[in-house]
Amino acid sequence: MGKIVVAIDGYSGCGKSSTAKAVAKDLGFTYIDSGAMYRAATLHFLNNYLSASNPQDVAKGLETLDISFHLNPDTGIQETYLNGLNVEDEIRSMPVSQKVSEVATVKEIRKELVAQQKRLGKKKGVVMDGRDIGSVVFPDAELKVFMTADLETRSMRRQQELFEKGELVELEDIKNNLAERDRIDSSRAESPLIKVPDAVEIDTSNLTFERQVAQIVQLAKDVIDKE
Ligand code: DC
Repeated sequence: MGKIVVAIDGYSGCGKSSTAKAVAKDLGFTYIDSGAMYRAATLHFLNNYLSASNPQDVAKGLETLDISFHLNPDTGIQETYLNGLNVEDEIRSMPVSQKVSEVATVKEIRKELVAQQKRLGKKKGVVMDGRDIGSVVFPDAELKVFMTADLETRSMRRQQELFEKGELVELEDIKNNLAERDRIDSSRAESPLIKVPDAVEIDTSNLTFERQVAQIVQLAKDVIDKE
């Protein structure tokens, strides 16, 4: 099968990551979670008491930041490593979720992570999800998808996801966090979250997981067939 780039953007908690992962598996492509990179950078700044709003701290943080993905042979899933340590679970915790949008507004941090993302997708055959994948990272992606879902649905899904990991969080807190991240992500000066005109919009509020994966896989296969 031919190789293309599938760019999936959308609001926080739309199920982009799990959908993108399943789409990649079906197509035999590599999945890259760009949000995990912003989360790992945020954890790095938190762990080292560095402020993303202080340019000297940002320079120091970027100098010592090493993010990589490694396949877990037991699960077949790519996991996120920060300076050699597996941080896959830690980067999904509430303290990181509360700080990540702020860290993701910083131009220098975005520049560094976007450069890494472009390198990771150079050989194509990738599915990457995030906020600026179709607009900034891969403006020439062969398939762009913009996922949406209403806030209530997204909050309930996220609560269930955290519950399964043993974290009990009030629905209201999750809702506030998602709404706040939507606001910051969409209104920031540096590559804000937007639906680019050539993206296919998929509202997943009333779709089963299997159905949303199947829709995107079909779109990708249609593009590959035309290549
Ligand atoms: O996809 P996620 O919820 O794990 O992303 C975490 C945060 O990272 C999100 O609130 C905004 C930021 N982000 C970004 O600015 N650009 C991306 N390409 C991916 C994520």
